Amino acid sequence: MPEVKFYHRPAVPMEMHKVKIVQRLELLPAAERLQKMKEAHYNAFLLHNKDIFMDMLTDSGVNAMSDDMQAGMLRADDAYAGSETFYRMNRKLTEIFGMEHFLPAHQGRACEHIIAVHFVKPGKTVIMNYHFTTSKAHITRLGGKVEELIKDEGLIPASDLPFKGDIDLDKVRECIAREGAENIAFLRLEAGTNLIGGQPISYQNMKEAVAIAKEHGIPTVLDASLLQDNLYFIKTREDSMKDKSIREITRMIGDLFDLIYFSGRKFGFGRGGGCMVRDEELFHNMEDYVTMFEGFLTYGGMSVKEMEALIIGFEESMDFDVISQGPQFIRHCVDELVKCGVPMITPGGGLGAHINAREVVPHIPDHEYPAGALTVAMYLCGGIRGMERGTLSEERDPDGTEHIASVEMIRLAFPRRVFTLSQTEYVIDRVKWLYDHRHLIGGLRFTHEPKTLRFFTGRLEPVSDWPEKLVEAYIADFGEDQ
Ligand code: F0G
Repeated sequence: MPEVKFYHRPAVPMEMHKVKIVQRLELLPAAERLQKMKEAHYNAFLLHNKDIFMDMLTDSGVNAMSDDMQAGMLRADDAYAGSETFYRMNRKLTEIFGMEHFLPAHQGRACEHIIAVHFVKPGKTVIMNYHFTTSKAHITRLGGKVEELIKDEGLIPASDLPFKGDIDLDKVRECIAREGAENIAFLRLEAGTNLIGGQPISYQNMKEAVAIAKEHGIPTVLDASLLQDNLYFIKTREDSMKDKSIREITRMIGDLFDLIYFSGRKFGFGRGGGCMVRDEELFHNMEDYVTMFEGFLTYGGMSVKEMEALIIGFEESMDFDVISQGPQFIRHCVDELVKCGVPMITPGGGLGAHINAREVVPHIPDHEYPAGALTVAMYLCGGIRGMERGTLSEERDPDGTEHIASVEMIRLAFPRRVFTLSQTEYVIDRVKWLYDHRHLIGGLRFTHEPKTLRFFTGRLEPVSDWPEKLVEAYIADFGEDQ
């Protein structure tokens, strides 16, 4: 039962679990938050978790485990080689995706590393619906290039399109003709397309894109890290799929691809990752990279306990009730904020609620990182840590100029099964306050800018004393203790 009905009022999203273990949270007063943000060099990644009230940075590795998953950890078979846990994990993934061979890795980007090292040579192109930061970095590091061929309408922030993650099939054909099939390393489709707001790709589109690649002998890869939310959207938004079970849909998707990789920090509610490979020869050709970069072939850098938990997490991901909650909480948050007039990425997708920063703070130029500034402001005004997903997360072009992101967003992630509805309401309230005081928010500039993945560890400063002014206004409305 994915939606519980109410008698006296419109339904609200419902937690289909009860809390068994809790972690205490502290809401520091605004003046202290300002101090903590200064110490973190105006980069939310550098904040200490203890100073955060609502950590909505990511859903990665911070999803709540079920009692069954925790119980599973006790039966993990610890062995350097030949762990029974590995064979159980392989069997479960084979059952779900219909592919036989499993290469374990410590997380999603480790899979991307292995895949890139195997397939990408200088000058080769990888076709994608859209890039993810780490997937692109691994390809460009090896001299490859990325062609993002998402449909144009996928990038329109406010929309009612059900599948904004769909790839443009005409552009795919055109790209193959232009580059030559032999120069395409692989086609990568990303489920639950992260950087455009956790937006899903339809089964139909996956099928057609893969068919084009197959026609030209191009290997096909699915990034299934965010597949869980995408499965929910396929079942609820794609007419021809609504009578299929989540398990059937997953298997139909699995049957399309040559290789499927995932971050177990997202898919499976645990921590880890791996690649499922269809072809035995390809599997053997990639094995060496696991032993070289990750660990022995039966753990690949993962803790065996986490592997055992993931096996159960994969099974829970096949449960429509379980996977419905994330998208329902996100939709509630997005719809309420839209009612408050806040420019959001719509329709609500998976992973989190995404605010369209460019429209909230149009007075901040792109090179002063509007979404980065809004992320700082969100922490100052509520102790909420979101993630910048915009120009700051991009790499500069080879000539040093800023690569301006097509979408400039702040993401408020909803780690699965973690936050309650009242916490969600608090977030909605503070975003609304911030929106009403948006004129007080100013830009940021780098004081230390790393060359790769600069958003993780870069240091910044505000271009004026706007953080102080914003905190003053906040204290005037809520008092010194909030
Ligand atoms: N692919 C997608 C679609 C992702 O969202 C991520 C991670 C990865 C690959 C890499 O996996 O973190 O296990 O190495 N996304 C995280 C996020 C970091 O916060 O969105 P990883």
